[in-house]
Amino acid sequence: MSAARDGGARPTLLVIIASTRPGRVGGAVGEWVVEAARVSSEFDVEVADLQELALPLLDEPAHPRLRDYRHDHTRSWSAQVDRADGIVIVMPEYNHSFTAPLKNALDYLVQEWDGKPVGLVSYGGLAGGARAVVAIQPVLANLGMRGIHANVEIAWVAEHLVDGAFVPTDRHDRALAAQLAELATLLA
Ligand SMILES: Cc1cc2nc3c(=O)[nH]c(=O)nc-3n(C[C@H](O)[C@H](O)[C@H](O)COP(=O)(O)O)c2cc1C
Repeated sequence: MSAARDGGARPTLLVIIASTRPGRVGGAVGEWVVEAARVSSEFDVEVADLQELALPLLDEPAHPRLRDYRHDHTRSWSAQVDRADGIVIVMPEYNHSFTAPLKNALDYLVQEWDGKPVGLVSYGGLAGGARAVVAIQPVLANLGMRGIHANVEIAWVAEHLVDGAFVPTDRHDRALAAQLAELATLLA
């Protein structure tokens, strides 16, 4: 967990954007999530855009549970995840699973993830990223993260883009509000 919060301080929510390809939809979906989290006034919101972070394929010699990091990119990623009290992962479905950059980013750390509640915002075609959600759950559980009830699944995501921005339906907005409310309750 992050260092003990002062009384009344808001919890820090880290929004991880898990797609990295040029022309991705993930940035637009991520902006919707970040904006809603900020407007809720429940959290201090941080963003980890894996495209910007550009972590190399795991290049630490020691097992990450030892926290014996050799590279600045690992120390900086470790510090960002450490600051977070809760996590939201914005993730597409690729080949019925979650993205390789996301697996790599998760694999970099161990203790930093432990005990943190995590909400998933998945998207894709007909299944709305549901198979990616099922695929990532054992990974998150192994890292000690706490899955929540209110995940958000966005089917046919490309149909909800206007001029590059994600335009949610009322259902999307309600699902995201429920997720943020559950996280806020857990982190209160
Ligand atoms: C490599 C790749 C594999 C994909 N596999 C799936 C899939 O298994 N299921 C699905 O619903 N959509 C699949 N899609 C479609 C993506 O959900 C859609 O392109 C989405 O916009 C990808 O997210 P991104 O734009 O943020 O990268 C795939 C897309 C890519 C690029």
